Amino acid sequence: MAKMKLYYSPASPYARKVRVVALETGLEKKIDMVNVALSPVAPNADVDRHNPIGKIPALSVKGLDLFDSPVICEYLDSHHKGRKLFPRKGRERWVALRQQAMGDGLLDAALLVRYEGFLRPEDKRWTEWSKGQMKKIEGVLAQLEAEAKALKGKLTIGTIAIACALGYLDFRFPGFDWRSRHPRLAKWFAAASKTPAIKATAPPPG
Ligand code: BEZ
Repeated sequence: MAKMKLYYSPASPYARKVRVVALETGLEKKIDMVNVALSPVAPNADVDRHNPIGKIPALSVKGLDLFDSPVICEYLDSHHKGRKLFPRKGRERWVALRQQAMGDGLLDAALLVRYEGFLRPEDKRWTEWSKGQMKKIEGVLAQLEAEAKALKGKLTIGTIAIACALGYLDFRFPGFDWRSRHPRLAKWFAAASKTPAIKATAPPPG
């Protein structure tokens, strides 16, 4: 298989999904990692050349640039011979894709809150907007708590996305005590966090 290049940042939860999949599929040795710094207000020209949306992760392979994380993860999963992280068919596949949508949806809302509170100038912040996004996060957490039983078992793209989303909450919202309200989800996450690929890709301190 041709060598691939992954544009990523150690703090990006979407790139973390790809890094977990690379480790779980054994493809990490085939990927050159390119650590980039960027934000919506400080784009990165190298990333822009590989993704017209100007976001990470982007994977460059055989002259083709792939984005975003669901596409890259599925590409990697189609290039190894081991157990599939994207179940191929049936209800199992839709359960995993739906879980991925919940993890990514939680992340989308969390990133908007993060940008609102961290990047946007203080006098331009819109509290109602952030509250609306936090409500979406709460909605996903409540749904995951109700479905916690279905998270158990070997990792899939669904549970990888959820673990990366919960990891981002802990990373950027350390005071947000979701665990006391969602104990079954917290228990699952504690166990999932011990998986070597999840452990190895934890965001940097700070
Ligand atoms: C962060 O630092 O929170 C972050 C970095 C890259 C992508 C998304 C989030």
